[in-house]
Amino acid sequence: MQTIFITGASSGLGKAAARLFQARGWKVIATMRNPEKETELDRLANVTLLPLDVTDAAQVKLTIQKAITSGVDVVLNNAGYGLVGGFEGYSDDQIRKQLETNLLGVFRVSQPFVTYFREQNRKGLVVTVTSAAGIAANPLASVYSATKFALEGWSEAMNYEVNQFGIRFKTVAPGAMNTDYVGRSLAFVAHDAYSPLWNKMMSGFEDGSTNVVFSEPSEIAEIIYQAATDGKPQLRYLAGPDAVNAARERQEMGLQAHSEQISKLYQINENGK
Ligand SMILES: NC(=O)c1ccc[n+]([C@@H]2O[C@H](COP(=O)([O-])OP(=O)(O)OC[C@H]3O[C@@H](n4cnc5c(N)ncnc54)[C@H](OP(=O)(O)O)[C@@H]3O)[C@@H](O)[C@H]2O)c1
Repeated sequence: MQTIFITGASSGLGKAAARLFQARGWKVIATMRNPEKETELDRLANVTLLPLDVTDAAQVKLTIQKAITSGVDVVLNNAGYGLVGGFEGYSDDQIRKQLETNLLGVFRVSQPFVTYFREQNRKGLVVTVTSAAGIAANPLASVYSATKFALEGWSEAMNYEVNQFGIRFKTVAPGAMNTDYVGRSLAFVAHDAYSPLWNKMMSGFEDGSTNVVFSEPSEIAEIIYQAATDGKPQLRYLAGPDAVNAARERQEMGLQAHSEQISKLYQINENGK
């Protein structure tokens, strides 16, 4: 029986992935900040809950030590949240917390697993959830995008670095998902100068003019399952129509095409009107 270790399994995509892998006969180590509050995953066979805040280095160490006693094959770096608003208004603490969670949290969790996979001669796999915003950026999520772009580069480099030991690194880049992300995982920073742009973006979401297509977390979990099981040396899995569009705009049509698309969508000109 294969085992997957998941971060941020308390909700959304992390929980959907935990359910799916469990249903397909895997052992699941579902980690979350408050396992005592979990009422669904703890009832499933072959699911172990462990406490994990990815910003807490001591807890990361302890939880991984516990997890590897029974063997781990795949690590899913899923935990993350979005800092949104005008960059000018971000405090140092807000920026640091975003980097601590989305970027350093992933590094912190992955590093001991690389050592474990190498020393145990295990063909381990590390799958990291990035975002369409890690392929083509949008305004008002600059530091979030920075973390997700960084994860794409890091994961690619890691893959080349540890392939020699039979270890692989992959990313799954979802577009918009129907999770509680907006309600629970967006840290909004208000700034008067950026309110008109923010309002334009929000009304674009509401009237559908941004062409955002929300995928169900269960659909994105299927792509994570594919990444974990297809045995292919593929580095990145685009997950959902928005991610496919972001990659097409950015890679096939080029950076300029994406920039024109953003200007058209939000009608941004030099006067910010
Ligand atoms: N939703 C989208 O539209 C979308 C699009 C592209 C990419 N993503 C990415 O998908 C991933 C999952 O997001 P989601 O949409 O499923 O949102 P979600 O339902 O809000 O899940 C986010 C998870 O991350 C956990 N988390 C946050 N900070 C943490 C920390 N310091 N330590 C451990 N866990 C922490 C949360 O735990 P708590 O329950 O303790 O808060 C929660 O389980 C994120 O990496 C996100 O950036 C989301």
